[in-house]
Amino acid sequence: MPDIIHPSRRAFLRFVAGSPLLSMLGLPSCTGRDSDGSAQPSLTDLIGSPDDAINVLDFQPAAQAALPPAHYGYLATGVDGDETLRANRKGFERFHLRARHLVDVSTIDMSVELFGERWDTPIVLAPVGSQKAFHAEGELVAARASETMGHHQILSTVTTTSVEDVNGARTRPVWYQLYPTSDWNVTQALIRRAEGAGCPALVLTVDLPVGSNRETLERFTRLDTRDCSACHDAAPDDDDPMNFPIGWLARKPMFDGLDMRRVNFDTPSLTWEFVSRLKDTTDMHVLVKGIVRGDDAWRAIERGADGIIVSNHGGRANPSGRSTIESLGEVVNAAEGRVPVLVDGGFRRGSDILKALAMGADAILIGRPYIWGMAAFGQAGVEKVLDILKIELMLAMQLHGVPSLAGLDGSFVTRA
Ligand code: GLV
Repeated sequence: MPDIIHPSRRAFLRFVAGSPLLSMLGLPSCTGRDSDGSAQPSLTDLIGSPDDAINVLDFQPAAQAALPPAHYGYLATGVDGDETLRANRKGFERFHLRARHLVDVSTIDMSVELFGERWDTPIVLAPVGSQKAFHAEGELVAARASETMGHHQILSTVTTTSVEDVNGARTRPVWYQLYPTSDWNVTQALIRRAEGAGCPALVLTVDLPVGSNRETLERFTRLDTRDCSACHDAAPDDDDPMNFPIGWLARKPMFDGLDMRRVNFDTPSLTWEFVSRLKDTTDMHVLVKGIVRGDDAWRAIERGADGIIVSNHGGRANPSGRSTIESLGEVVNAAEGRVPVLVDGGFRRGSDILKALAMGADAILIGRPYIWGMAAFGQAGVEKVLDILKIELMLAMQLHGVPSLAGLDGSFVTRA
């Protein structure tokens, strides 16, 4: 179990973050927060409680200060020079909202329906692996907060809390995200376990058939001088393209009792047949996550996919990707309303969410913001992140003449 908030480390990090060392290393510093173009507060603006936050970006430096460098680096990293990560944010600036006025917006309905289930809000918690690296109770914190706030949640294959325990903390079960493994027996066992836990949907991630080059993670890891052997085996596994240490997967609760010798996420030979195979294997809905092109959306649906998630893995897979908000339109067109289309990638504002929904998304996923909240303040932090986004979305709906998401269409958004 990682030490989550370590006062002396926090003081050290504050010192390091304010020093020229970070810019020499080319690392994002606490002052260079995940920008949405607004003024950049300095470390003196570090929030001391969730209620101090003005927007969800305020949680990022608080999370950085609370976490050991390697854990923060794992969360923050993109690939290569983080171009795709930045593209996701910049993409939102390429679209503007077109307000409609003198519409009665005294009541706002932001509920959405996904596979026959109604949710109070279109904001879904994205699958983020290894959440105990960010808080001692990890995924349970996300489950409790999303339950309290009425949000849906997707659980990662590499969750550090079992799917049974997470579902036990929620009224309605999570969707389970699936990385295909190099061993079909293991993959099948994961599917059966998700079914057994009552998950109504499986979210197949297709954008990481091999590992990706996470330089920001590597740079932060070099700042981390702790002895990490209690949680991480030292030796990298040469057979694993992600070069994760031997035993890394086997320790995750979803792999309990499975023969994990030589099993990894290396699946470079996987093709669309795999979607058909999943459909033949389970009655759960199957969504395909990681789609950024209309033709791939079409292929997925032809193979029986029940939903699409437009995603570039939070900028952690391909190094020079287009933003997901710019990819959304062609996917929505290809889907032709046959299946729900969800999208993630850089959502930090209610207006970002309104744009995506106007462009045809059925719901959006957030990842890093809720983990920032969790790392800095536990459940209260996650709840505040969700609350801020919900309030911002409500305000955006009122200001743009959208009383209900059902009345939203492409006329509300235009290319800048
Ligand atoms: C896992 O999904 C990762 O991006 O590290």
